[in-house]
Amino acid sequence: MKRMLSGIKPTGQLTLGNYIGAIKQFISYQEEYELYIFIADLHALTLPIDPKELRKNTKDLISVYLACGLDPSKVVLFKQSDVHEHAELGYIMTCNSYMGELSRMTQYKDKTAKISDNGSIPTGIFIYPALMAADILLYDADYIPVGLDQKQHVELTRDLAIRFNNRYSETFVVPEPVTSKTGAKINSLSNPEKKMSKSESEKGTIYLLEDLSITRKKIMSAVTDCDATIRYDMENKPGISNLLTIISALTGKEIDALVQEYQGLGYGEFKKIAADIVCSELETLQNKVKEIQASGLIEKVLEEGAQKASYLARKKLSKVYRKIGLRQN
Ligand code: TYM
Repeated sequence: MKRMLSGIKPTGQLTLGNYIGAIKQFISYQEEYELYIFIADLHALTLPIDPKELRKNTKDLISVYLACGLDPSKVVLFKQSDVHEHAELGYIMTCNSYMGELSRMTQYKDKTAKISDNGSIPTGIFIYPALMAADILLYDADYIPVGLDQKQHVELTRDLAIRFNNRYSETFVVPEPVTSKTGAKINSLSNPEKKMSKSESEKGTIYLLEDLSITRKKIMSAVTDCDATIRYDMENKPGISNLLTIISALTGKEIDALVQEYQGLGYGEFKKIAADIVCSELETLQNKVKEIQASGLIEKVLEEGAQKASYLARKKLSKVYRKIGLRQN
């Protein structure tokens, strides 16, 4: 069985982008692959975060993983900071990466563009892709399901793995990114040319655990165009195309079929359908999250997951230590 691994960082609240671009993919793979899914909590430290908020986001994220149907008897669910090998291999990967390649990362460029004083850019945002490479390479993962924005980091991971293998002999499996056909990039509702993200404007971002009357309002006021026809055209009709993508990802219907189905509807009616579909999915999810948070299951799942993940991580790190000369044999 091929191995698949992915993670989400517990910064801010989870968005519909995380759900469609990542979590829904994870669920679809749990029968077919040996799946390792983790909470990337060390990554949440790359920008300042309040400890209380980090604890809450972590609990919400594991609850959402479980509520969406990730089954701990099939999937290894764990928290990155519970497996200290991530930080250790992360350091080694940092030492094997170049300033040039890290500074070319789009996400690094985007995030630092928002910080006006260059001298206060946190070092963590710069070296973060090296830690992400370690997350992946520790487990010999074959496939990495991610949204489009993370693909470049998986490609960097491939370069680092190949470089290490060439320098020290075959050590790491070279992973491949996997993005879903629809929904690899869900855009903001208020600015549909940009990605929906945890740090985007509130109005344009649907949070998985928010009050559903707010979700409905956001969808009903999503930015569209004045052409008044429902068709998929990302360039000229990004708002309508984004809503079609969301509906397609949540219902499993092809975009072409949806366009046929909604022919002749006004934008108001179309948005109402979109809102009904999103709210119904989120309502089910939110109810399950409440049950899981009340069940006391979370600690046990994370403890067992950390044990299983540590087993592989320990073996891989000790191989790396031998190869690079940190161990005598
Ligand atoms: P993060 O936490 O920013 O996002 C988690 C996952 O959600 C996807 N995603 C989206 N997909 C579609 N549309 C969107 N608007 C959208 N927003 C987010 C992301 O592509 C990602 O798949 N560095 C990673 C976490 C990480 C990781 C790893 C992932 C750490 N180590 C190892 C895979 C393997 C991150 O910050 O994702």
